[in-house]
Amino acid sequence: MKIFVDTAKLSEIKEAMSWGIVDGVTTNPSLIRQAVEEEKRNMSLEEYVAEILRSVGEGKPVSLEVMSLKAEDMVDEAKILYEKFNDIAHNVVIKIPINTYAGYYEGLKAIKTLSEIGIPVNCTLVMTPEQALLAAKAGARYVSPFAGRIDDYIRESKLRMIRGKDFQKGDYYPWDGKGVDDNGIRSGADLVEKTVMLLENYEYETEVIASSIRNPRQVREVAMIGVHIATIPFQVLEQMLLHPKTEEGVKKFSEDAEKAGYRELFE
Ligand code: E4P
Repeated sequence: MKIFVDTAKLSEIKEAMSWGIVDGVTTNPSLIRQAVEEEKRNMSLEEYVAEILRSVGEGKPVSLEVMSLKAEDMVDEAKILYEKFNDIAHNVVIKIPINTYAGYYEGLKAIKTLSEIGIPVNCTLVMTPEQALLAAKAGARYVSPFAGRIDDYIRESKLRMIRGKDFQKGDYYPWDGKGVDDNGIRSGADLVEKTVMLLENYEYETEVIASSIRNPRQVREVAMIGVHIATIPFQVLEQMLLHPKTEEGVKKFSEDAEKAGYRELFE
C-alpha cells in the first residue's frame, strides 16, 4: 500500500518524508488554511506550495485543489496550477470534487476535460462507490473515498433514526429491514472496500486513495482491504508507531544492554 500524508504543513511533510515511507501528499483548502495559520512563514503562498512540492520530491504526487465550482473555471485553475508548479518536481495532481451542487454536474465535466489533456486528477469528496465509478469513467487518475466523513454521516443518520424521522415514499427500504439510511454502506472502511471491489471489475487505471482517515485502526482496515493508497494525517502516522509495550521493551533492553557491558561490542 502506498502511503500519502494528508497535510499541508511543511514541518509535518518534511518530518514524514525523512522516515522514508511516504509516497505522496494530499492537501485541501482547509489543510492549506491550517498550515498558513499555524506555521509561521515569511514566504508567499506560492513559494510555500513550491516548497511542499520540492520537499515531497520528484514524481511523488502532491494533490492541490481548485476553488471554483464551474467546470470551465475549475479547468482554467487546474491548468494554472499545473503550468505554474508541475515543472518543480513533476508531481502535481489536481483535486476536483466529484460534484459541486445538485443539478450542476461540473466536477465530472472538469475531470473528463483535464484527463483528456493529460492533467492527472484526484477526484475528491467521494462518498459513494457510484461516484467513484463515474470519476474513473471520466478518466480520474485517483478517486478519494472519504472514510471518516462517511462514519460521521452514518453516525448522524443513526441518531436521526433514534430521534425519529418521516420517511419519504421514494426512500429505499432494506430487504432485511436493517441499516436504514446507510445507503448500503456500513462504515467508512466499507465504502473504501466497495469502491475498490467495484473498480476492480473493470480496466480503469484509477487508483483508490482511502481518505479522511481518523485513526490507526482505520488504516489497518483499509490496508486489509488492499486499497492502493491511504492518505494519512501526520498525527495518525505517529500513532501508528506507538505502543506502550514497545516503549517499555526499548527501555528494558537499553537498561540491560548497559548492565551487560554491551557497549564494548561497538568500540
Ligand atoms: C484528503 O484528500 C482529504 O482532503 C482529507 O482526507 C479530508 O479529511 P477530513 O475529513 O478529516 O477533513
